[in-house]
Amino acid sequence: MSSPQMYVASTTAPVNIAVIKYWGKCDTKLNLPTNSSLSVTLSQSDLRTHTTAACSPTFTENRLYLNNEPQDVSGARQQACFRELKALRKKLEDADPALPKLSEHNVHIVSENNFPTAAGLASSAAGFAALVRAIADLYELPDSPTDLSRIARQGSGSACRSLFGGYVAWEMGAAADGSDSLAVQVAEASHWPTMRAAILVVSAAKKGVSSTSGMQATVATSELFEHRAKHVVPKRMAAMKKAVLERDFESFAALTMADSNQFHAVCLDTMPPIFYLNDVSRASIRVVEEINRVAGRAVAAYTFDAGPNCVVYYEEANEALVLGALRRYTAGVAGWEAQEVAASVPEGFDVHVG
Ligand code: DP6
Repeated sequence: MSSPQMYVASTTAPVNIAVIKYWGKCDTKLNLPTNSSLSVTLSQSDLRTHTTAACSPTFTENRLYLNNEPQDVSGARQQACFRELKALRKKLEDADPALPKLSEHNVHIVSENNFPTAAGLASSAAGFAALVRAIADLYELPDSPTDLSRIARQGSGSACRSLFGGYVAWEMGAAADGSDSLAVQVAEASHWPTMRAAILVVSAAKKGVSSTSGMQATVATSELFEHRAKHVVPKRMAAMKKAVLERDFESFAALTMADSNQFHAVCLDTMPPIFYLNDVSRASIRVVEEINRVAGRAVAAYTFDAGPNCVVYYEEANEALVLGALRRYTAGVAGWEAQEVAASVPEGFDVHVG
């Protein structure tokens, strides 16, 4: 007797780090944001999720393993992704009866991150992007990354941007059903080949307040938040797209740092206040400010997501300057003004170059 066939597909998805931050939902069910956002997808060779999706008539339930740990798949986010992808597969099967009926099988997903999970390093972004891409590949769906971004968005908002490389906008959209809340590529990574990112891993610990609950508390309690979403972000989105298209690093840096600072200000304006930055994060901000002061212009830009780890963007030509300064700081070597902050650096502070 032949055993039933198992279908398998594997993929990887990269981490993205927003330079104009998504923070706030106007529809928690569909994961619709209160403002558009824009991110840079990091190189796959550094931070990524590797995911394998399989289906077989013998699978009795949907399963998901992350870093070898079984995960709950009954949550609305996972269910939404499974449901939507199965519906797309079902359409293909209805149109072509010769296709195997994969939409009738349960799926097993095995995922692995090569970086700290849930430490503000955008693990849910890479995770849901890889999950959606792997199942889409398993089902041989012809849908574009933008089509798939609508599904990944329902898993985790920032995941919709990880379906593309390079510079990616998540346009918030206006439709109540979320059909126009999707990711589009602003520019390929090759458009700005000299762009680099360094990640200062301040803490690999799991963050205290999840993005999902943090942003809900912000929407409910912060007055500053409304001003940001309505009056600040739309202008910044336009200015950031222009900076990327013109490869204007100084504007890119100014916008990136301002937006990170405003996002964390909005967190502080939340009741009870949310603190993602710690002393080391604040010290890294001072080091970057110092690098830029010494250079006489912005050659480095910091940004922080919902955690203390610092991502620093810079251009290749300034790599020695920027990484040299960051390393001197982390090594606590005297000789420049940033030495005063070196005292607060804990052990294990590490520089990764992406
Ligand atoms: C600070 O995408 O993790 O990283 O949609 O609830 O899953 P959910 O939130 P998530 O939030 C990311 C917030 C951020 C900013 C950003 O990536 O734009």
